[in-house]
Amino acid sequence: MEAPLLSIHNLDKHFDISGGLLDQLRWKGGKPVRERTMVRAVNRVSFEIRKGETLSVVGESGCGKSTLARTIIGLYPPNRGEIFYREERIDRLSPARMLPYRTKMQMVFQDPYASLNPRMRVRETLEEPVRFHRRLSGAEIKDCVAQVMEQVGVDPSWADRYPHEFSGGQRQRISIARALVVNPEFIIADEPISALDVSIQAQILNLLMDAQQERQLTYLFISHDLSVVEHISTRVAVMYLGTVCELAPVDALFDGPLHPYTQALLSAIPRLGEKGSRHIKIEGDVPTPIQLPTGCVFHGRCPHVRTVCTETVPKLRDFGGGHFAACHFIEEITARRAETSGHLA
Ligand SMILES: Nc1ncnc2c1ncn2[C@@H]1O[C@H](COP(=O)(O)OP(=O)(O)OP(=O)(O)O)[C@@H](O)[C@H]1O
Ligand SMILES: [Mg+2]
Repeated sequence: MEAPLLSIHNLDKHFDISGGLLDQLRWKGGKPVRERTMVRAVNRVSFEIRKGETLSVVGESGCGKSTLARTIIGLYPPNRGEIFYREERIDRLSPARMLPYRTKMQMVFQDPYASLNPRMRVRETLEEPVRFHRRLSGAEIKDCVAQVMEQVGVDPSWADRYPHEFSGGQRQRISIARALVVNPEFIIADEPISALDVSIQAQILNLLMDAQQERQLTYLFISHDLSVVEHISTRVAVMYLGTVCELAPVDALFDGPLHPYTQALLSAIPRLGEKGSRHIKIEGDVPTPIQLPTGCVFHGRCPHVRTVCTETVPKLRDFGGGHFAACHFIEEITARRAETSGHLA
């Protein structure tokens, strides 16, 4: 099998928000000492992304998807762990040595208006990164920009307009053009369609998928829309409270989710042709990443919880065919589910 394009090992990203009301006091030597308050947004995350695939990351709001993306692409330094691009470890590179990776890896954000400079004409927005990263003549830069505008479906004759003169969908096309114009290999798309009108979403998805085909791009795709994820992914990672609880090829995940959290998450999507409702309700709220639960992060809401879950962090275990899940009781839960569906049949 081909070596991964990108791999991350045991990645942690914590934000220090000490100094506010959330700080806890601890008594030390008869004096109160303020404890540091940390938001543990990403914890012990490991996975690989292979060239040409789309790995989607799903999970509820606040589970750490964007923080993970920003850490991978170098916008945040990780607190722990390693990030490799091909063979090279990139999480500790100097800005100068990171420069080539700044073209290889690009990011497309949810809100195209916020990610485009409102005072720059589209032409300037697109020419700037080319000028910075690629050695091309003035005429070549113009050609390159016109080509990429055509590819994303924005008329190159509109290059002298400003972002506000475009619709939301057109603006997202321009953000995608801005990512593509430096010829990247790897794109992180963080909820790239969720701010758009439903009628436009499919067009932007198709654009991303066409660009992937044409340019052999590798995607890390972040979304909480499971039907979109099912449609476009090669593999899917499910996150809960900063950790990956399941990772599997897309069909294996949607046909046979193993982790109780994934089972609940997927049971919420209505599926065509499925009889009856198997909706699994998860009780309670997601705990705060400031005080992570001990053991399995899902234990407080898990219908199958036992004592060991409150004490020991479950490892991501391989259940064959690249299907990984982190739960102490997968075998038991699977056996029980098989029994119940046997009764129902
Ligand atoms: N710069 C920051 N400083 C402190 N806490 C942060 C920061 N960025 C994110 N967080 C916290 O980290 C956790 C993960 O946030 P993140 O934005 O990564 O989640 P998400 O999965 O992308 O959510 P959403 O689906 O809403 O976009 C949240 O509790 C969030 O409040
Ligand atoms: Mg986010």
